Amino acid sequence: MKSATILLLLAAFVAFSAASEYKAPWVEFDPSRVYRPQDLRQSERLFHEAKMKEIVDHAISKGSVFASSVVNATSGQTICINTNAVGQKKDMTQHGEIVVMQNCSSIYGLFDWTGFYLYTTGESCPMCQSAAMWNRYSKIIFGSSIKFLYCNHCQAQILIESQVINSMGYGLNDFGEYVPAQIIGGILEENTNSLFKNYCNPGPYDTNSQSVHPACLTDSESDE
Ligand SMILES: *[C@@H]1O[C@H](CO)[C@@H](O)[C@H](O)[C@H]1NC(C)=O
Ligand SMILES: *[C@@H]1O[C@H](CO)[C@@H](O)[C@H](O)[C@H]1NC(C)=O
Ligand SMILES: [Zn+2]
Repeated sequence: MKSATILLLLAAFVAFSAASEYKAPWVEFDPSRVYRPQDLRQSERLFHEAKMKEIVDHAISKGSVFASSVVNATSGQTICINTNAVGQKKDMTQHGEIVVMQNCSSIYGLFDWTGFYLYTTGESCPMCQSAAMWNRYSKIIFGSSIKFLYCNHCQAQILIESQVINSMGYGLNDFGEYVPAQIIGGILEENTNSLFKNYCNPGPYDTNSQSVHPACLTDSESDE
């Protein structure tokens, strides 16, 4: 492990213990951080890339861009895979993650999805991120970020990044018992970024409700 990573983990650990007095006997994931492909061991990165490719291919085969899957981390098997059903069900809340989590819950009847991973082509919105936390998914893995979809592709988004919600889960269990999900972002993002439609220059007759005029800071403004 790089010493910068160790320092970061140590800093997160110290900040957490100072705030709470609780000391876990193991290294915890920082729930307020999005882990990137380069933070992962190669075997794990390759696993996530294969699962991301599977949902990208699934999205393309269904003429969709938002696809999600649930993977059993113990067996490595994809047990549910679905696309967004907003248009089909005429229901704005039928995002890909909601559809796949509801599909998997109705098939397997689990209340606790610890040990299962949720994959999604686009970063989870606050609704889907919260649903994944209620379901206790252990890892949530996305391709394209909310920032990219909103700022670069002019796509309508609720502007709360998933790790912000992810850091707020401690009320879901008694104090000290909560195990946050790990968020991993940017897996095969070159593929997912080109999968999503760019709404920044809609045609004159393009009345798609997904198109917005983003109010984004430049990179140097957001670093201040
Ligand atoms: C997950 O995989 C493990 C190991 O193969 C198996 O025992 C378990 O039944 C699986 N659960 C689901 C819901 O697929
Ligand atoms: C789960 O999703 C699959 C694929 O769309 C579908 O065929 C199946 O009927 C769904 N099952 C349930 C219980 O929702
Ligand atoms: Zn969503």
